[in-house]
Amino acid sequence: MRIVLLGPPGAGKGTQAKKIATRYNIPHISTGDLFRENLKNKTPLGQKAKAYMDAGKLVPDELVIALVEDRITKDDCRSGYLLDGFPRTVAQASALATFNEKLGKPLNYALNIDVPESLLIERIVGRRVCPKCGASYHIEFNPPKVDGQCDIDGADLVQRADDSEETVKTRLNVYNSESAPLVDYYHFKGVLVNVDGNQKPDEVTSAVFNILDGGAK
Ligand code: AP5
Ligand code: MG
Repeated sequence: MRIVLLGPPGAGKGTQAKKIATRYNIPHISTGDLFRENLKNKTPLGQKAKAYMDAGKLVPDELVIALVEDRITKDDCRSGYLLDGFPRTVAQASALATFNEKLGKPLNYALNIDVPESLLIERIVGRRVCPKCGASYHIEFNPPKVDGQCDIDGADLVQRADDSEETVKTRLNVYNSESAPLVDYYHFKGVLVNVDGNQKPDEVTSAVFNILDGGAK
């Protein structure tokens, strides 16, 4: 199954992606996570992406497209993949379509997690992540068992560098101008499915599983 996850920053893409990847046994490929990993390891790609990410802007298409094309041709993607945070521009979506056509492996679903904009800032500013294992929490909606510590490995939780209220506003503007048009793009292609993301995380997961199990399209 080849899936792309659409939705604004804070919609719950990462939260749902982990569950989908486990259930359907496909790799979860988050371009944001790949860039953060490159930043941490101080690679040339990480250095190039840093200024854009810190400002809440998009990394240039050519860098992202090359990264994703390289990743989805790896062996573990033979039976599918879940792309989280890609595509984010129509140019990225067209590149992916051309690439998939060449391989004869079209997308099955574009899952759009729909959340009212008024809820997104609170979700993002309250997010805390584990620097060791990548687990993600929310100080109110999904708190860790011990305040400020990862449930899995006890590491001190941190805030993502781009999760300040100011940067979030830029990210939302960028989403509205660059990425929101993808909803129509995939609707036109006949693979779009909308999911109500304004429910408890487990309820969103059930709705997604229902769709992917063939219950709705
Ligand atoms: P990326 O890491 O993809 O960030 P994003 O799209 O801004 O999305 P987020 O990770 O902030 O949100 P999410 O939807 O994953 O929500 P989450 O599940 O964590 O990208 C970062 C940067 O990298 C970009 O700004 C750009 O610079 C660059 N980049 C990446 N991809 C690129 C591309 N293709 N092209 C160009 N540049 C690219 O949930 C958020 C919070 O809400 C959490 O605290 C969670 O616990 C909570 N939550 C989740 N679900 C619920 C719920 N149902 N109810 C209540 N709370 C919830
Ligand atoms: Mg994410």
